[in-house]
Formats: sequence, C-alpha cells, structure tokens
Amino acid sequence: MIRDATEHDLPAIRDIYNDAVLNTTAIWNEQKVDLANRLAWFNARQALGYPILVAVEHDEVTGYAAFGDWRPLEGFRYSVEHSVYVRNDQRGKGLGPRLMEALIERARACGKHVMVAAIESGNQASIRLHQRLGFIITGQMPRVGIKFGRWLDLTFMQLALNPGAEPPKE
Ligand SMILES: CC(C)(COP(=O)(O)OP(=O)(O)OC[C@H]1O[C@@H](n2cnc3c(N)ncnc32)[C@H](O)[C@@H]1OP(=O)(O)O)[C@@H](O)C(=O)NCCC(=O)NCCS
Repeated sequence: MIRDATEHDLPAIRDIYNDAVLNTTAIWNEQKVDLANRLAWFNARQALGYPILVAVEHDEVTGYAAFGDWRPLEGFRYSVEHSVYVRNDQRGKGLGPRLMEALIERARACGKHVMVAAIESGNQASIRLHQRLGFIITGQMPRVGIKFGRWLDLTFMQLALNPGAEPPKE
C-alpha cells in the first residue's frame, strides 16, 4: 500500500535514509541524520503542501518517495526534484516504480511542470527505473561529487508532467 507519511513513519524513514548514506552513492552525504532532522524535513514539506509517500507492508515502511523545490529561486517554482528509496531488503519487487507513479500524480496535482532526477551515473537500477517511467536524460556532469574515496558523475533526468502546457497565467 502507498499512502501519505505521518510523523509515526519518521523513524523508519530515518533508518532507510541512513542506510543509503552509509552504504550507497544514491545520496552524496556521509553523515547520518537523527529523528529531529527528519521531523524538520517532514514539517518543511508539509508547510509547502508537498507529499511524502510511504510504501507499507505488514505495518512496516518498506520505502518512501518525496519531492522538494528543484532550486530555490522563484523562476524554478514549477520544477521539483525528488528522491525515492526502497529498504535494502525490499528492492527488486517493483516498489520503487509504484512509489514513483504515485509521486508523479501528486506532482501533477500540485501543478508542477517538470520533475528532475539527479542520479549517480553508476546507479543503473535507478536510471532504468526512471527511463521506464518516461524520464529522459538531459544532463551529464562528470566528476562533480566524491564519496567512498572516488569521484562521482551525475546524470540529470527529467519528466515533463504536462507536455506542451503554456506557462500558467498568474
Ligand atoms: C533504485 C530503487 C529506488 C529501485 O526501486 P526497486 O523497488 O528496487 O525497483 P525495481 O523493483 O523496479 O527494481 C529495479 C532494478 O533493480 C533490480 N534488483 C533486483 N533485485 C535487487 C536487489 N535485491 N537490490 C537491488 N536491485 C535489485 C531489479 O531487477 C531491477 O532491475 P532492472 O532495471 O534491470 O529491471 C531502489 O533500488 C533503491 O532504493 N536503491 C537505493 C537508493 C537509490 O538508489 N535511490 C534512487 C536515487 S536516484
């Protein structure tokens, strides 16, 4: 089941996030976060009206997905950048695509125009997942990151949420 996260889900979300911090190049920081950090993040997303979705099986959070503003300047206000994480013992079962399909619908419902994925170029599972969802590669940035003692390349992918839409009259 996919549903909106509540504060009660934050310990599980923190654990999934910290596992990615310690063991993957999906996220390019090396410091684990605590519950207060995830609560601040949760509250900030709530204040913006942006969803945090969780996949739940047998009352356990098995993955989550969320988006935030892509860049802070107002000219980017119709573009969001998302994250999707599936617990390490639950990967390869289709949860990532289901979370993403639900998140894409929510981004449309928020009136967003483009979703951006910033993916470590070696993360083929994520790149393929995004390609299957209709994202296209729109940028390649060699050696812009570092983790685990090696340079990391960044692949940008994006999805047009309402292709051809005129700029909103505001
Ligand atoms: C990328 C990720 C979200 C994909 O979610 P998922 O639920 O595993 O997605 P799928 O079930 O569609 O599987 C994706 C691929 O991983 C493969 N896979 C199978 N078992 C796997 C396992 N135990 N561990 C990792 N990948 C596995 C699948 O076969 C599939 O390969 P394919 O693309 O050749 O078909 C998930 O692997 C994940 O959370 N990874 C770590 C964090 C991350 O990279 N997030 C994205 C940052 S941009």
